[in-house]
Amino acid sequence: MIRLASVFCLLLCLNSCKTHPVEVSKPTFGLIANKAMVVSARAEASRIGVAILKKGGNAFDAMMATEMALAVSYPFAGNLGGGGFMVYRMADGTVGALDYREKAPKAAFKNMYLDASGEVQPEKSQLGALAVGVPGTVAGIFEAHKKFGTLPIQDILSPVIHLAQKGYVVTEKQQRRFTNYRELFLTVNKDTIPYAKDIIAGDTIKNIALATTLQALIDKGRDGFYKGAVAEKLVNHLQENGGILTLDDLASYKAVWRKPVQFTYKDLTVISMSPPSSGGTCLAQIMKMIEPYDIKQYGHNQEKTIQLLTEAERRAYADRSYYLGDPDFVTIPLDTLISATYLGKRMQNFNFERATPSVEVSHGKLPGYESDETTHYSIVDQFGNTISVTTTLNGAYGSKLYNIELGFFLNNEMDDFSSKPGVPNMFGLIGAEANAIAPEKRMLSSMTPTIVEKNNKLWMSVGTPGGSTIITSVLQTILNVSEFDMTMQDAVNAPRFHHQWLPDVVIFEPNAFDQELLKNLKNKGYTIDQQESQIIGKVDGILVREDGTLEGGADKRGDDTAMGF
Ligand code: DON
Repeated sequence: MIRLASVFCLLLCLNSCKTHPVEVSKPTFGLIANKAMVVSARAEASRIGVAILKKGGNAFDAMMATEMALAVSYPFAGNLGGGGFMVYRMADGTVGALDYREKAPKAAFKNMYLDASGEVQPEKSQLGALAVGVPGTVAGIFEAHKKFGTLPIQDILSPVIHLAQKGYVVTEKQQRRFTNYRELFLTVNKDTIPYAKDIIAGDTIKNIALATTLQALIDKGRDGFYKGAVAEKLVNHLQENGGILTLDDLASYKAVWRKPVQFTYKDLTVISMSPPSSGGTCLAQIMKMIEPYDIKQYGHNQEKTIQLLTEAERRAYADRSYYLGDPDFVTIPLDTLISATYLGKRMQNFNFERATPSVEVSHGKLPGYESDETTHYSIVDQFGNTISVTTTLNGAYGSKLYNIELGFFLNNEMDDFSSKPGVPNMFGLIGAEANAIAPEKRMLSSMTPTIVEKNNKLWMSVGTPGGSTIITSVLQTILNVSEFDMTMQDAVNAPRFHHQWLPDVVIFEPNAFDQELLKNLKNKGYTIDQQESQIIGKVDGILVREDGTLEGGADKRGDDTAMGF
């Protein structure tokens, strides 16, 4: 029940506007800028990020400012109480990735969300203090800044503190989301939290408590969050509400530099997030499976394109479910999983005549192998460095547990673990042993912050929220530009569809796909769902155009905004 409600809310809150087919003949361009750009879910955050760049800061300085400005103005997903992933590409072409994903508290254990009869209790991993993983965001922004930042923390965070004190103006879409979650805020929090009040579009929301927490970051760096007064307030609050997170959990949290997944697709080189996110691996699997086909000739959102993508997605998500988890805990045969030979074999039983039922697809056999809410922002700076960052509290406003003293929501990322093999989580994803709960383990993610090169030069930075639909939304956006010659803005606006092996349905954004085409797919054995799937992803990206200028793609499904100079 709670799972269905979450999926519904996720879809509702991603937006309520309808999508229409894009007229490719009349391209829509997003913001064009000469040197630098930030695209994020809120104008306030993009503006503050760009101001840092204008001041001479680089993409990593702007990351800290943008991430914290989202925590102020987009509490739906922007956060201090969550985690995320960042993929970067420096101006000289070197690439890397930062994992600041939450992890399970030390007192967590495999069956912690099962009742006495062994049934999963989804509300425990989704609502309130027991759902909270050790937050990674503050460690992430400080780690990125330590390695690459150039401006003093004070210069970066002061404009954010000013925003928290001065307040931000609530948009229509935000009002709808606050209203949708009001009851859950009241259920989870003992005290009435500011966001449970009657908030309407046009209201100004200030967050003085968060301004004070941010000041602690200026004064004490990452320790201002993971140790001392803020840590104590956080742990006391969690424990009073039945949580298991301790001061030791906070003090020992570390963000980790990872090697990104890197692969080629035709003339592109794609650099994306490695485990503990499944994003880059699944994206690589899907793109390598479809690479031998002439998708350009099939056409955008046409029958053969939809079939090909769906079948590749089916096989990739089946592998995700079996093989992927925290690389610090499980051995992942990554090179094999993304090799053209293995993936060619995976597609051997595919044909355009009939759907392959998901019951007939399980994870591939590898010889020798033992066995709503998130937000994305992309930044290109004036020095040619690029970052792609996806950050999340997991569900909308995370666990809904809000710390009034500190001014932020706590994540419910523990639901991204597989509470029990074969039982779907709130995104309908099924997991196995590789993603079982263990102390200090990171839960598997679908976040797919991605950077794409063409001819060894930066070409695109892209990503999106959307739980399990993240991977397929990033995929379609890249293909929209590379195969179907769309502008960045048209590519993010274009209607999307999604498949994830189980459940065995293909979801389509409603009123955006030709009914005849959907009927043909049904006849071939595909189960079509347009009801529950109003919005798939909310993509933000930046494209480097042939003349070297930047085009922002800010998804019309949200309040997303591109700014640049
Ligand atoms: O890491 C993940 O895959 C999920 N926690 C992401 C959640 C999400 O995207 C919700 N947003 N719509």
